[in-house]
Amino acid sequence: MGLIYLLLSLFTAPVFAQNEPRTIQDFNKNWRFHLGDEAKAKDVAFNDSDWRTLTLPHDWSIEGQFSEHHLSTTQEGALPTGIGWYRKAFTVPVSAKGKNVFIEFNGIYRNSEVWINGHSLGIRPYGYSSFRYELTKYLNVGNVKNILAVRVDNSAQPNSRWYTGSGIYRNVRLITTSPIAVDHWGTYVTTPAVTNQNASVTLQTSIRNAFGGRSDGKPQTVSINSVILDATGKEVATSISAAVRLLDTLSTVTQPFEVKNPILWSVDKPYLYKIVTRVYSQNQLVDTYETPLGIRYFKFDPATGFSLNGQSMKILGVCLHHDLGALGAAVNVRAIQRQLELLKAMGCNAVRTSHNPPTPEFLDLCDQMGFIVMDEAFDMWKKKKTKQDYGLNWDAWHKTDLEDMVRRDRNHPSIFMWSIGNEIREQFDSTGLTITKELAGIVKKLDSTRPVTSALTENVPEKNFIYRSGVLDLLGFNYKHEAYADFPKTFPNQSVLASETGSSLQTRGHYDMPSDSIRMWGKGGPTKFTDGNPDWTASAYDNEAAYWGSTHEQTWKVIKKYPHMAGLFIWTGFDYLGEPHPYPWPARSSYFGILDLAGFPKDVYYLYQSEWTDKPVLHLFPHWNWPKGKTVDVWAYYSQADEVELFLNEKSLGVRKKTGDELHVMWRVPYEPGTLKAISRKAGQTILTQTISTAGKPAKIQLVADRNILKADGKDLSFITVNVLDEQDNLIPDASHLITFNIQGEGELVGVDNGYQASLEPFKANYRKAYNGKCLAIIQTTEKAGKITVNATSEGLQSSTIELSSR
Ligand code: GAL
Repeated sequence: MGLIYLLLSLFTAPVFAQNEPRTIQDFNKNWRFHLGDEAKAKDVAFNDSDWRTLTLPHDWSIEGQFSEHHLSTTQEGALPTGIGWYRKAFTVPVSAKGKNVFIEFNGIYRNSEVWINGHSLGIRPYGYSSFRYELTKYLNVGNVKNILAVRVDNSAQPNSRWYTGSGIYRNVRLITTSPIAVDHWGTYVTTPAVTNQNASVTLQTSIRNAFGGRSDGKPQTVSINSVILDATGKEVATSISAAVRLLDTLSTVTQPFEVKNPILWSVDKPYLYKIVTRVYSQNQLVDTYETPLGIRYFKFDPATGFSLNGQSMKILGVCLHHDLGALGAAVNVRAIQRQLELLKAMGCNAVRTSHNPPTPEFLDLCDQMGFIVMDEAFDMWKKKKTKQDYGLNWDAWHKTDLEDMVRRDRNHPSIFMWSIGNEIREQFDSTGLTITKELAGIVKKLDSTRPVTSALTENVPEKNFIYRSGVLDLLGFNYKHEAYADFPKTFPNQSVLASETGSSLQTRGHYDMPSDSIRMWGKGGPTKFTDGNPDWTASAYDNEAAYWGSTHEQTWKVIKKYPHMAGLFIWTGFDYLGEPHPYPWPARSSYFGILDLAGFPKDVYYLYQSEWTDKPVLHLFPHWNWPKGKTVDVWAYYSQADEVELFLNEKSLGVRKKTGDELHVMWRVPYEPGTLKAISRKAGQTILTQTISTAGKPAKIQLVADRNILKADGKDLSFITVNVLDEQDNLIPDASHLITFNIQGEGELVGVDNGYQASLEPFKANYRKAYNGKCLAIIQTTEKAGKITVNATSEGLQSSTIELSSR
């Protein structure tokens, strides 16, 4: 095992194990932070003792208050941005002498500059790129302190069309290697030929020779031993290189392998191998490096769509922005895993990382959990979409940023396509021709095993210059589902998928009737929007959408029908901060999610579950608390059944069946209080039953934790759903009680939310109002094992307490 994870506390020296040639240390702890600019903060002598101490990843925007006066505007979530500084003091032991030391950042939003001991290491404008700097020549070893200083400048606004977060919002590591070591992102694995009987695997390894770049440079010889291990750790293939002479700073070695009877990676069974590479110089082990490996083959076909390992399948995807709701942009692996678990249970098998490279932990999870990823580089090229955006950095940085994305990500089996951009303005003029060719060329040079695509809007071939460049392997089209049927004629012999669909608008638990009249919202811009609801809600019946989009049902019906459509990416899996179309302030987060910002499913979640999984589904809605005499539209999504019968207070309201391409059934019911009951049946046998009763008076709080047993690692989370119930345990559908939390023991409340898009309550607080009966508390463990007691109270309600255990 070459990778060891060591914890480092302030001023304690990292352990540089003598016989571990490479160390990877979590470098997130004990940073000092200051919000605002400080001209001298890069200097070693600067006194930061009154700065706040914190653990990364950190997003200062999410800690702020909403305001319509923030420069970010509601499009970026109406939270503060600005400039911030981080500093970290650390020592390295004398044993680090002769080693090479690097600091790795997974991402800093944005315009970062990093100094070590007063020396500038570089700047990085793009907030979604990962990068590293070498510290070696500026480092003090022994007892002398080193100071890392990072300035983050997110003050130029607006620079995005959604919430970005601000700060060192992704993980940081300190890496130590021998002078001869595998380079940064230094391996590239491909599987040139795969059958069920055999897989050829090729590994290319770039060896960095720090001696080669120095004046005392002398030839070095290395040998490289790489083994493929299966998921149980058993060796299944080995390759030992002949002696390789390293003369230059970088040398590449190629190693072929054969894996007999490979277990293929798929979305249902994401089987992972790994390659462990050992580099020896003069019989000494000088590096150990791991590369993930998933063996699979796939094809996009213009007529029949997508197939994985020879099996035809649809890509059933969602688009995701990177924020994690109440946690903001600050990366937390459990929070990402929870999102992916919820999507998986819905039947989703793919994610588009709109519109930027994700954090690498997200891709690790997709490898492990079985998601097909469209890895996307940019939301704009040189032509800007907002005044201060990356378009300004385009000329100087696009090549580096794109290369770094592909180099960093190309070993992930979950990645199936590279997107060079979303709704890029250059598609409308001839500059699009050259840039597309350049970008596709950059990608292909680094990885020719996956198609290059772009999410396009212009579907008239002659008018689309990105398409006309002729270099896209796969065409992605956003919206305009009416055009899909003709794609084989409009784009003959081209593979096509719907890179973005829907933009349907919903607020959890809110219902606008009649449910069968569809309203397309927002024409004329947010300020002129007058068709909406006074409380900035949208309808959870799937009957409202942005005017350029469609309802969920409209698009899914078409995708389902045409085999030439390889799949779709719905806009979006979860609500995200920013882009509250069509509403103005105080709306500050989006309405597009299948799940709300807190991660509570909206009704349409069950539409997809009924269509995309083999699980029997019966989902009846809305709630059953209405004014007497009102006619209420009652919907049911169902699957694995022939029909559904609805009863009100035990009286049948009739049997309904989906016919043709229908995706739900509906009854129009004159309201009277009581109990609605739906029964789904197949060949006369009951499959599922669901009841909804009129809720009485609010009586109590119910707490439901997604996980009760947690890791005592200071990172793990429990997401606790708070329900406001009546005496009989019915959810109060409009409850808005103020809930106050009290946490005791080895846990901390790190975020609260209720999924309401226009709530102006802060995410970092010990209270939250329920919205439509629910809110959420997110508890994080400390590093100490023990009990965590979560107590929730509200005036007039019976309080509730649950206990979690952290080990
Ligand atoms: C698309 C765009 C997305 C988002 C969406 C909202 O056109 O690609 O980023 O803005 O509209 O409907």
